[in-house]
Amino acid sequence: MSHTLQFGRLSAADHEAVSGLLHRSLVKWYESRLGQGARFGDSPAPFLLFPQVYEALDPGEAITARDEETQAILGICFTHERETHLSIGIVATSPEASGKGIARQMMQAALDKAQHLGKPARLVSSLLNLDSFSLYTRLGFIPGPIFQDVQFNVPETGLTIPVPEGHERVRLAGPEDVKRIADFEFITQSIRREKDFHFFLRNQVGDWRVFVQEDAAGSLTGYMVVSTHPSCCMIGPGAATDEDAATALIWQSLETLRGRTTVILVPCLAARLVKTLYRWGGRNVELHVAQSTAIPPKTTGLAFPTFLPESA
Ligand SMILES: CC(C)(COP(=O)(O)OP(=O)(O)OC[C@H]1O[C@@H](n2cnc3c(N)ncnc32)[C@H](O)[C@@H]1OP(=O)(O)O)[C@@H](O)C(=O)NCCC(=O)NCCS
Repeated sequence: MSHTLQFGRLSAADHEAVSGLLHRSLVKWYESRLGQGARFGDSPAPFLLFPQVYEALDPGEAITARDEETQAILGICFTHERETHLSIGIVATSPEASGKGIARQMMQAALDKAQHLGKPARLVSSLLNLDSFSLYTRLGFIPGPIFQDVQFNVPETGLTIPVPEGHERVRLAGPEDVKRIADFEFITQSIRREKDFHFFLRNQVGDWRVFVQEDAAGSLTGYMVVSTHPSCCMIGPGAATDEDAATALIWQSLETLRGRTTVILVPCLAARLVKTLYRWGGRNVELHVAQSTAIPPKTTGLAFPTFLPESA
């Protein structure tokens, strides 16, 4: 079977097909390899949020693979151009068309774009998924920091834990903080993505809260975004100067999510923070690794990537 690749903007009419493809491919892959298909639920409806967020944030950047004859979407690869890099994700191939090189061709198109821009490509890939890990490393990605996906079932009444020090310096961000957050991430993590923070604070597609923490002198010591949308309850992206700042930001994020189940990707190297999160009732549900086509830049502090928007 031959397939043509078509590049371009997804129309709103494609969103339902894409949500169906994302749901089918994840259920099929996780069920057949790990017996965990059920974690993605019975309905593709929550996956509508992916094309909706991505087309609002990065219009026209999606790479689609359509069947030459039927025009059905067989594969989707979202790319996200940022000041310092091109981020890639989510990538999925329809289970009926898997193993035929579709993901590789879409990824190659994304890498061509990164090369044309003169920027490294970055993504976060599951360490439980050898198919995608191998796909990316075959294409030249270099694995970097490892993250554990820590899940919390936050009680309606909130976590019964001592309030961490520094929570009193955490507040909701406003539009005036956008540039400061982007600069903070550039200084600590060597990536810049100001448009994401404008997007979160406009809060028109999805449902987002952005917290910042400042020190006594008013300098930023961290930020954390929380997706509170019913289709995606997740903490991140975020960054913090140290584990104490991260602890206060995560506590505030969990407070915001009372009565919900949520996940945060925590750097495995942050051993003290990880221990704290275990004490708070966190359970590991998966492992992810950051990958880049460039040698990972020098960073300071901690980073907390997410799946939506996947802009590592
Ligand atoms: C992961 C996924 C995108 C792969 O899509 P696909 O279209 O079947 O992949 P391709 O056919 O393009 O091939 C994958 C490549 O990885 C290689 N590969 C897969 N498993 C491998 C392994 N264990 N060791 C080495 N190489 C491996 C294949 O050989 C192939 O490379 P090649 O074309 O150079 O031979 C697909 O299984 C999927 O949609 N999964 C569910 C969604 C998901 O998990 N997405 C990734 C998270 S972002």
